[in-house]
Amino acid sequence: MDYSSYRNLPVLVTGGLGFIGSNLAFELAQLGAKVTVVDSLVPGCGANRANLRNAEVTLIEADLSEPSLCEAAIAEAKVVFNLAGEISHIHSMEYPERDLQINTVSQLRFLDACRRLNRGVRVVYAGTRQVFGKPNYLPVDESHPIRPVDFNGVHKYAATMYHMMMSDLGDLDAVVLRLTNVYGPRMSLSVAGQGFLGVFFRKALLGESISVFGDGDQLRDPLFVSDAVDAFLRAGVAGKLGDRAFNIGGLEALPLREIARHIAGQVETIPFPEHLKCIDIGSYSTDSSYAADVLGWRPSVSIAEGAAKTLDFYRSHLVDYLNPAESLRRELPEHAGVKRRLIFKAIP
Ligand SMILES: NC(=O)c1ccc[n+]([C@@H]2O[C@H](COP(=O)([O-])OP(=O)(O)OC[C@H]3O[C@@H](n4cnc5c(N)ncnc54)[C@H](O)[C@@H]3O)[C@@H](O)[C@H]2O)c1
Repeated sequence: MDYSSYRNLPVLVTGGLGFIGSNLAFELAQLGAKVTVVDSLVPGCGANRANLRNAEVTLIEADLSEPSLCEAAIAEAKVVFNLAGEISHIHSMEYPERDLQINTVSQLRFLDACRRLNRGVRVVYAGTRQVFGKPNYLPVDESHPIRPVDFNGVHKYAATMYHMMMSDLGDLDAVVLRLTNVYGPRMSLSVAGQGFLGVFFRKALLGESISVFGDGDQLRDPLFVSDAVDAFLRAGVAGKLGDRAFNIGGLEALPLREIARHIAGQVETIPFPEHLKCIDIGSYSTDSSYAADVLGWRPSVSIAEGAAKTLDFYRSHLVDYLNPAESLRRELPEHAGVKRRLIFKAIP
């Protein structure tokens, strides 16, 4: 793919101190784009200052809920890559109001500023497969019913619809990429509740055995971060689109047990924790053929290759990502709202 149109292009990356956003910001800078990152280092998310070390980007430390702090960057951006968000399903079940604030209220204010300052701008939003909930069929295509199983999925869907609706009105020109589980360099290994892949890599680097919940037969199609970044880059410069939402999945759908074996030597299966059954979705795999047809995007990195690259990265940057003496950090912000218990009920 020829990405020469990014040379000297002003672009804005929200959530760019986090995992996927920082990988995207690095790649955009490499392509010669004028990159501005906005991030507020939300506690409990995956922000890490080391993620942008030596990156040729301008960093604005601001929250999307206060867009006045990044108005100039919004106004001049030719493409907005909107990745700021909370990914934790578990946090969202414990603190639904916090997730509502991060994934919807902040988005609404930010998108309204985009409409006001830069009407019709291309916004590429990081959506999630979580909106589909427990799949009715595999692989999951764009026509699959929406039935999220947790607040995170509900709020990410609301934000998805803000992008769609505002595009219908001509306020934005949005593209939504519904990502499956993404992994690779710069993912957080120290914050609790960020998904199984971070836990698997953490365990592997600590020389510990990986515990897979249930029988380990559940399918997932992990997406290596360079493939995810490629989807964002293509979506950023794609022409006018009809359907704006794309399912973006990894190269292979494999049982969790097998994925774990690619990451670490020792793997065991343990009973599925009762308190997490309510947000278990069973097997998932993506039908990415629409993205292939329209964006020309296809994943190219196998789990074997991606796991090796990820482990290599962390082995040479361990001090920035993992303190073997510290357990997973569980701190959530003061404004998390009322804490509720996870619902102890499995989905039928
Ligand atoms: N990682 C995955 O597997 C995955 C899968 C599906 C979708 N996504 C989506 O991709 C996006 C990026 O995910 P990630 O894995 O890089 O997460 P991450 O937690 O590593 O990064 C998110 C970043 O957004 C920032 N942020 C959050 N809310 C903000 C706000 N209101 N204002 C400013 N900054 C804010 C955080 O500080 C953090 O740096 C998220 O929107 C997520 O929902 C990720």
